[in-house]
Amino acid sequence: MIASNSSIARRPRRVRADGRFDATAIWYHTCFERSRVSSTTDVAVQPTFADDVGRDLAREPKELQSKYFYDALGSQLFEAICRLPWYRITEAESSLLRRCADDVIAALPPTATITELGPGSGEKLVVLAEALQRAGRSARVHLVDVSAAALEQSERSLGPLDQVSVIGHESTYEVGLARVSTDRASGEAMLTLFLGSSIGNFGQTAARDFLMVARRVMRPGDLMLLGTDLVKPEPVLRDAYDDPLGVTAAFNKNLLVRINRVLDGHFDLAHFEHLVVWNAGQERIELYLRSTRAQTVRIGAIDREIVLAEGETICTEHSHKYRAERIAAMGEAARFVQRHQWIESEAQFALTLFEAT
Ligand code: TRP
Repeated sequence: MIASNSSIARRPRRVRADGRFDATAIWYHTCFERSRVSSTTDVAVQPTFADDVGRDLAREPKELQSKYFYDALGSQLFEAICRLPWYRITEAESSLLRRCADDVIAALPPTATITELGPGSGEKLVVLAEALQRAGRSARVHLVDVSAAALEQSERSLGPLDQVSVIGHESTYEVGLARVSTDRASGEAMLTLFLGSSIGNFGQTAARDFLMVARRVMRPGDLMLLGTDLVKPEPVLRDAYDDPLGVTAAFNKNLLVRINRVLDGHFDLAHFEHLVVWNAGQERIELYLRSTRAQTVRIGAIDREIVLAEGETICTEHSHKYRAERIAAMGEAARFVQRHQWIESEAQFALTLFEAT
């Protein structure tokens, strides 16, 4: 529970999806460098990646799963997106967090575990760790992400903090959260952070199901802090996902780069464009890769030729936008009660603190 000052105690640990510590995935640091000993996550997930790509590109309409955005380059590009002036989510959420961190920590029972689903760079947890410090407390922090690259980044920003001991779980949100929750002591409360409007990347039904699954593994009194981007004028949303610097376009196209690299794909990026659509009926941004001409693309590792018509799209992401007044109801449907909601009015972003009932 208490993080000591020794570098051993502060070395982030990594747990594999099957729950065993993955010795090959542990990082070692020295004062000057930190290098991975062995193992690559790409190898570990490769069969699934190949299966998913083969299946999803055989669908009509074609799609690719957004969880595959976040390889090492994709995670760096996403970090860059979060710093773009047109992508307001990260800054808005950070300023809300700075405003509410003391209240959130005060709402958390003295013995508690914090779990962040999809920690990104880990910067937001630093804000909470500072609130822990102000309260003279420390906590065990679990990071759950399918992306090894994302875990590495967040472990790096949290590693030096004395208020937290960090444990990384390379797994899906559901599996990681269930494991953390069942493994904790009986009197230990849990705060789950689901930030960055990641819930918006689920469809409506999937978002509701996800909250129900999360609630099922939580205990009454446990807390969840949920970040949701709110509906706002279309041009503002469009700029956030189709920025003038082209970083989001690069992030989107990197999916094809990853297929080329890992699965011996032959996508020519010159013949694909980044396409952003605002679906007003569903209140969501839709991201696509559009083939600018008729083409056939070979993917060696799955021994397949992908046939694309001119103008055909591959859907890569949905990002749903919420209305603040509906968020409480969404939580209630999953047996949460809204304890508090903070809204950043300029960027239109909400942080909602739910308590499991
Ligand atoms: N959760 C983020 C969002 O929906 C993820 C994201 C931000 C994203 N920018 C993106 C996903 C661009 C794909 C492409 O805002």
